[in-house]
Amino acid sequence: RRTLLGTAGATGLVLGAAGGAVGYAARPAEAVPLTALGSGRAMFHGKHQPGITDGLQASGHLVAFDLAPGGGRKAAAALLRRWSATAARLMAGEVAGHGDTGVARDAGPSSLTVTFGFGHSFFAATGLEKQRPVALDPLPDFSSDRLDRRRSDGDLWVQIGADDALVAFHALRALQKDAGSAARVRWQMNGFNRSPGATARPMTARNLMGQLDGTRNPKPSEPDFDQRIFVPSSGEPAWMADGSYAVVRRIRMLLDDWEKLSLAAQEGVVGRRKADGAALSGGTETTAMDLDKTDAAGDLAVPINAHARITRPDQNGGAAMLRRPFSFHDGFDDDGAPDAGLLFICWQADPLRGFVPVQRKLDRGDALSKYLRHEASGLFAVPGGAAEGEYVGQRLLE
Ligand code: HEM
Repeated sequence: RRTLLGTAGATGLVLGAAGGAVGYAARPAEAVPLTALGSGRAMFHGKHQPGITDGLQASGHLVAFDLAPGGGRKAAAALLRRWSATAARLMAGEVAGHGDTGVARDAGPSSLTVTFGFGHSFFAATGLEKQRPVALDPLPDFSSDRLDRRRSDGDLWVQIGADDALVAFHALRALQKDAGSAARVRWQMNGFNRSPGATARPMTARNLMGQLDGTRNPKPSEPDFDQRIFVPSSGEPAWMADGSYAVVRRIRMLLDDWEKLSLAAQEGVVGRRKADGAALSGGTETTAMDLDKTDAAGDLAVPINAHARITRPDQNGGAAMLRRPFSFHDGFDDDGAPDAGLLFICWQADPLRGFVPVQRKLDRGDALSKYLRHEASGLFAVPGGAAEGEYVGQRLLE
């Protein structure tokens, strides 16, 4: 698995060099070797699903499906079996099982990942309510929410990421076809990140406000990483062992307002320097933030309502999450305002010890909130990875 957290001392999710070369059944044997980018390969089978700890990818699709009425558990199981087979093939750089469209032809797997999750409504639709985890209880309403319910929630959620946009689209279309009449698309969103290799060295990615975003993400090398991000192997319900909960929010950035701020004001809003991500208390990106440091005038170096201060685990009873977003841009409104921002995806063992307490705090008004608008929301139970010969969700659905 291509796990790129913490490369070269950086602490965020970074775009890094691709993994080893792989066989690629769709390419003729005499073809030139794939580039490092094209040959990047994440593993479908494993303890955890792909697309959680893997490095950020250049291109992403989020898509939610609702099951066709009356299909029930059997139809859902057959769908997850089809989807898992297709995901495993495409992530290995092979063609889809049937009627491949040829869109990904000539390219390698390009670090494609496909991740499947179940929404709250999945369990009533399949008669599996008794198996529904308490952690899937609907997120509380936040006062600043401006949610479009048609672009929120859903029975099933699929996250697709790849370092090549055609490879990502190819997977999206193949999975939609696999759904057939068993499920139909409820909503779909497209996102992107910086392309691997665009910077001289692997770096924490920037978002559309220009900030280094991901600096303080939990790292797999930390002793409490698994406990924070994944449901324990012995966790409840048993089918969620080694799984994780994904909170998905379409967060519009009010860029016209944000870009009017001076650099100093922007940095005060976050509490970190824009150029290198260092805390305003000094040092480099990885230097610990000094929460008490004051300037000559006696003011806190990191303002009291700065986003990077307020969201810290030590300010929220230990609440932590792994943020693994995509940026989005869906054109401009009639008034010229960009419809752009962050497809915020965060991963945690329990949303009540991750997203919820932190968002509650932000909702009371951190400095960043007035430049953001939460427009869609989803919470999904993402089961552990499938073993060879197994499909995702089998322990729930069989
Ligand atoms: C940190 C930006 C929304 C939770 C940060 C940092 C930036 C940032 C620049 C500092 C660097 C870093 O550690 O990554 C944004 C933007 C957002 C957004 C642009 C919306 C578009 C959220 C939301 C949450 C959140 C909705 C959770 C409810 C966090 C956490 C940290 C963080 C947990 C790290 C705190 C720490 O451990 O020190 N964010 N953020 N952010 N943000 Fe956000």
